[in-house]
Amino acid sequence: MQPPFLRATARAFANIALAKYWGKADISLNIPAVPSVSVTLGALSTTTTVSFHDGLGCNEVTINDAPAQGRSYSRVSDLIDRVRDAAGVSTFARVVSTNNFPTASGLASSASGFAALCLAAVKASRLDWDLARISALARSCSASAARSLYGGFVRLDAGVEGCSELSATQIAPASHWPLHVVIAIVSGKPKKLASTDGMNLTAATSAYYDAWVRLCPSIADAVEQAIRDRAFDVLGELTERSAMSMHALAMASTPPILYFEPATIGVLHAVWAMRSQGLQAYATMDAGPNVKVLTTAQDSTKVAQILGHVAGVQGVIDSPLGQDACTFDDAADVSHEELK
Ligand code: PMV
Repeated sequence: MQPPFLRATARAFANIALAKYWGKADISLNIPAVPSVSVTLGALSTTTTVSFHDGLGCNEVTINDAPAQGRSYSRVSDLIDRVRDAAGVSTFARVVSTNNFPTASGLASSASGFAALCLAAVKASRLDWDLARISALARSCSASAARSLYGGFVRLDAGVEGCSELSATQIAPASHWPLHVVIAIVSGKPKKLASTDGMNLTAATSAYYDAWVRLCPSIADAVEQAIRDRAFDVLGELTERSAMSMHALAMASTPPILYFEPATIGVLHAVWAMRSQGLQAYATMDAGPNVKVLTTAQDSTKVAQILGHVAGVQGVIDSPLGQDACTFDDAADVSHEELK
């Protein structure tokens, strides 16, 4: 069967911020108030096909084999409508998106999801946009998604109100430094509070928010320098400092925001114990209870083995760093299964 006229398939990898973004300078344009630096995770990806069809009466969105509903549907459909407007495409789109990690793992990532969606939508509609412009589009949906357009080590600067073109930039490709991230899954439940709601509540109510905004540029710059220098312990200490500062400020919100589960604390103690025994491992957590442990290619198997035995850990994923987001030949009948 011939593919429809306008169609593209893209894959993007998830990422984990070592210097965290938490807080918006412009809520409606989704502009971060602080800079962030991430590593791209080669083991976690989203593959998305966007195809425009004459017969559709609205955009159709399928995520992990199920029709998207509510906020998940409207966020995807709104993005498709923006791309249709920019490209002058009148037909609606069918969007089929698949994660290569278990749906119930609690790892469902808006970063890889929106990066793959934006790339596929832009390519399918034949807009001649470079990766930076697509990164800015992804950032407008989910700031962390801007970073998932690039592989390796990636930075997203802070912006100011009204600056709609902000995009991420690559600090270095994955080949610069073959680090690993071991993910300890402690809960498969959906997030208690979406990151946007969490950061807006923090900005409005946490006494530490202004101090955080002042602290972040120095952490992000030092993280970037540690990456350039391949200084593992410096990078690891900054990574834990950024994560713990972010969670401390969220906990001090009213009502308090606590993303940790008991097993999160168990994993943190296990990481600190491993370090005292000479393994290279530092922990970070996003807006959820799972722990991502930054480690080296040399130590990752041992780190994964130890974390797998911590009480409450349901599974571990040992991830090398990932590459840039990419598209596949849109004339080929690409199966999402093959790309997993
Ligand atoms: O881009 P969002 O809305 O998914 O927010 C991401 C927030 C954190 O994951 C906690 C930090 C980050 O920089 O990725």
